Amino acid sequence: MAEQNLRGFISVADYDAGELLDLLARAQHLKRLHNMGESRQSLRGKTLAMYFEKPSLRTHVTFEAGMSQLGGHAILLRPEQVGIGTRETPRDVAKALSRWVHGIMARTFSHSLVEQLAREASIPVINGLTDFLHPCQAMADLQTMSEKKDPTQSTLAYLGDGNNVAQSLVLLAAVLGFRIQLATPASHTISPRVRQRAEELAEQSGAELHWTEDAQEAVKGADFVYTDTWTSMGQEEEAELRRKIFAPYQVNTGILEACPNAWVMHCMPAHRGEEITDEVLDGPRSLVYDQAENRLHAQKAILEYVMG
Ligand code: NVA
Repeated sequence: MAEQNLRGFISVADYDAGELLDLLARAQHLKRLHNMGESRQSLRGKTLAMYFEKPSLRTHVTFEAGMSQLGGHAILLRPEQVGIGTRETPRDVAKALSRWVHGIMARTFSHSLVEQLAREASIPVINGLTDFLHPCQAMADLQTMSEKKDPTQSTLAYLGDGNNVAQSLVLLAAVLGFRIQLATPASHTISPRVRQRAEELAEQSGAELHWTEDAQEAVKGADFVYTDTWTSMGQEEEAELRRKIFAPYQVNTGILEACPNAWVMHCMPAHRGEEITDEVLDGPRSLVYDQAENRLHAQKAILEYVMG
């Protein structure tokens, strides 16, 4: 098997600013090609195994479509077929897949499982979302921001749960040196591990990281206002409690009055009437479908980079 780039794509913080900007430029180029009806066969003959422990629309479709548009092929694996941890060990699955395919994209509950697959595999592993991080979403968000304003000169406000999406955005800001204003309840803020890593990276990049519990404070001066579900996959039993805890963080027309020029972002699936109102999600400032569109291009750039 040809030599592979074994770095994979587990966290945006595994890459430096220059590399992330190169990936962005590659994604922008792939989008231009796509919109002209052209494609390049950079992954001809290559196969991606896609393993999902959780539901997916965007990640599944964009990885599979991305592989076929680059001349390759994707195989969908479900946990009930594979049984990682029940039928066989992560190590054995990673070793076997490494003999057949050229890359693994995994969406898992536990982040350590993706890290373990990456350690054991001799092919690159891409993180398609864990409870801890969602780096492919962050790259699509970077591309979406870049279509409106230089992201490195932007201020991004994030309101709500300090979850996988929030943590990847904080790390993205910390690597690239832009300002992030994160408003979360103290009980549901980002993990100390991510905060510490982000603060270390920010010292190098000059990123300004602002933490608050106050949604009004966070949106002041924002170019982009981002939110995500209050109840991530796997937390469904806490949904009612979470609706109460996060109510002050809803993105609605009232809160957006404090940042009249800000664009609105959401990784989706959206819970209309909870973290974001219909009016805002469907309104003229919403970039949510651009973000979904850019998943395709950002991930094609990642696929080419790690599997090409
Ligand atoms: N935080 C959400 C993101 C979904 C794309 C979740 O993990 O369910």
